[in-house]
Amino acid sequence: MAKPPSQDPRNPDGFSRRAFLKTMGVGAAAAGLVHGASEVAHPSQAIILGPDAVPLALKINGALHTVTVEPRVTLLRALRNHLGLTGAKEVCERGACGGCTVLFDGEPICSCLMLAVDAVGHEITTVEGLGTPERLSPVQAAFVECDAFQCGFCTPGFVVASTALLKKHPNPSLEEIKAGVAGNVCRCGTYSRIFEAVQKAAGQRG
Ligand code: FES
Ligand code: FES
Repeated sequence: MAKPPSQDPRNPDGFSRRAFLKTMGVGAAAAGLVHGASEVAHPSQAIILGPDAVPLALKINGALHTVTVEPRVTLLRALRNHLGLTGAKEVCERGACGGCTVLFDGEPICSCLMLAVDAVGHEITTVEGLGTPERLSPVQAAFVECDAFQCGFCTPGFVVASTALLKKHPNPSLEEIKAGVAGNVCRCGTYSRIFEAVQKAAGQRG
């Protein structure tokens, strides 16, 4: 007979990593599954998701989108491959470059490190949601005016991270700007112009 979890010497806490991950995914997913969106999952009523695709309701740039993805799909892949929002870039896929930065309830995160299912019930803002080509956000406009890019591949991530920074610190010092975008990498080395653009967006430069 199997021992109760608490008596298992390999697992004295009685709670496996697998069980923990299942519980994490279940709570978020059950709350945002398109069918039964109002249900509140209780661990005893756990719904195991996958491996097949499941429909999720994601709030992105102020609008609700339904996306049908396997539970293993990252938020970045869901945005790019399933919703056509290709502003966030897939570069390192390990949280090391910031190319995939989006806002998660207003906070910058690496969307390559989050499962789409865990974004259910939260506000996601991508670079597409900050402004349009006809009506750029102040940060986007400052990047253009300061020529703050070369290849431009890192630019969406920097724009999103800078937008979050300026919301918290409307008048940041140069050191605060550097710290605010420290998670973003520009392989072309355009940092000085990026910092200048953030200062310009903050109204510190004419
Ligand atoms: S692609 Fe997400 S941090 Fe690099
Ligand atoms: S402009 Fe090329 S990586 Fe930043």
